[in-house]
Amino acid sequence: MQGSKTIRISLKLSMALLFLGLVYIQCRHDGLNVTTLKPVCFDTEISPIFLNKCATCHGQNRSKGGVAFYDYNSILASVKPYDAQNSKAYKAITGKGFTQLMPPKGALSENERILIRVWIDQGAKNTVCTITPTPVVPVDTTRTGGSTAGAVCFQRDILPILTSSCGTSGCHDAQTHREGYTIIDYASVMTNLVKAGSPNSSRLYTAVANNNMPPNSYTKLTQAKKDSIYNWIKNGALNGTCTSTCDTTGVMTYQNQISAILSNNCVSCHSGANAQKGVLLDNYASVKANMDNGSILSAVKGITLQMPPTPASKISSCQIRQLELWKSSGELQN
Ligand code: HEC
Ligand code: HEC
Repeated sequence: MQGSKTIRISLKLSMALLFLGLVYIQCRHDGLNVTTLKPVCFDTEISPIFLNKCATCHGQNRSKGGVAFYDYNSILASVKPYDAQNSKAYKAITGKGFTQLMPPKGALSENERILIRVWIDQGAKNTVCTITPTPVVPVDTTRTGGSTAGAVCFQRDILPILTSSCGTSGCHDAQTHREGYTIIDYASVMTNLVKAGSPNSSRLYTAVANNNMPPNSYTKLTQAKKDSIYNWIKNGALNGTCTSTCDTTGVMTYQNQISAILSNNCVSCHSGANAQKGVLLDNYASVKANMDNGSILSAVKGITLQMPPTPASKISSCQIRQLELWKSSGELQN
C-alpha cells in the first residue's frame, strides 16, 4: 500500500517536471529561425520605429535612463547583435527585466517587436534597402516603339513588356496571380502596383528596378525597359495607345525594325540558357535561322501555336507584315 503511493507520487512529480521542461523548451525555441527569413532592413524598417516611438525621450540631447535611439550607432549601444533576448532595447520593449515597459505609453505593436527581434538576431546590421532612384535616362529614340520621357504609351510600350515578362502563366496571370497581383491589362496594373507620378513609390517599378522581379530563374528586364516603365509612371501612368509608329514602307532591316519587335515581345522567354524550346531570338544569326525555317512567322500568326502565348500580348498585324517584308527582302542585318 505504502509502496504504490510513493510510486504514484514520484510519477506525478516526474510528469510535472516533464511538463515544465517542455514549457521551458517551447519558450526558448519558439520556432523563429531568423536565418531563413528575409533580412530586415535597418533604414526602412527598424530606424523609423526607433525614431517615431523612442527618440522623443531618447534623442541626441535628451537621453532618458542614459540610453539613446536616434541613429544606428546610438541604437547599437543598447543592442547585443545576434542576441535579442539579452539586448537592453529588446528587453525594454517587451518589459522583461525592467519595471517599466517602453515606450511608457502605447507599447509597440507585436509586428514592430518581432521586426526588432529578428533584426537583432540577424546581427543588428546597418542594412540599407532604400532604393536609389534611377535617373530618367532618355531611351534610344531610333528604336521602334522606343519610349522616351513624355512619349511612353501604355498599350504600345508598357503592356507588351509586362505581359511577356510578368503576366505569364504561373506568375501574375488571371489564374495564378501570385502574391495577389494580376498583371494582364491597364486596370490590373493600376491596382496597388502604380502610384502615378512617383515611380519610386510604385511597386511595379521598384520590383523591376531592383531586379526582384521577374524572379531569378527568369530573364531580368533590360535597362531600356526599366527606363520605359519609369518614364511612363513619372509622366502620369496614363492609358495611352499611341497610334502605331509601325511603318511598312522602305527596306526592313534587323537593326532598324526586327530586333525591336523581338526584344519587346519575345526575348523575355527566348534568350539565354532558359530560352523556351531552345529558340533564341536575341541575335541575328539565330533569328535568321528561325525565320528561314518558318517557325517565327507561323508562331506569330498563331498557325502552329500562338506566340507570344498570352492573347493580350499578340504582336500587331503591321509588325507581322514587317517580319514578312524583312524575310522577302533578304533578311538584311543593317
Ligand atoms: C515618453 C518618454 C519615453 C519614450 C517614448 C520611451 N522611453 Fe525609454 N525611458 C524613458 C524614461 C523616463 C526612462 C528612465 C526610466 C527609469 O530610469 O526608471 C527610460 C528608460 C529606458 C531604458 C532603460 C535604460 C536603463 O538601462 O535603465 C531603455 C532600454 C529604454 N528606455 C528603451 C526605450 C525604447 C526602445 C523606446 C522606444 C521603443 C523607449 N524607451 C521609449 C522614457 C521613454
Ligand atoms: C511568355 C513567354 C514567351 C514569350 C513572350 C514568347 N514565347 Fe515563344 N515560346 C514560349 C514557350 C513556352 C514555347 C514552347 C511552347 C511549346 O512547346 O508548347 C515557345 C515556343 C516558341 C517557338 C517554337 C515553336 C515550335 O513550333 O517549336 C517559336 C518559334 C517561338 N516560341 C517564337 C516566339 C516569338 C516570335 C515570340 C515573340 C513574338 C515569342 N515566341 C514570345 C514562350 C514564349
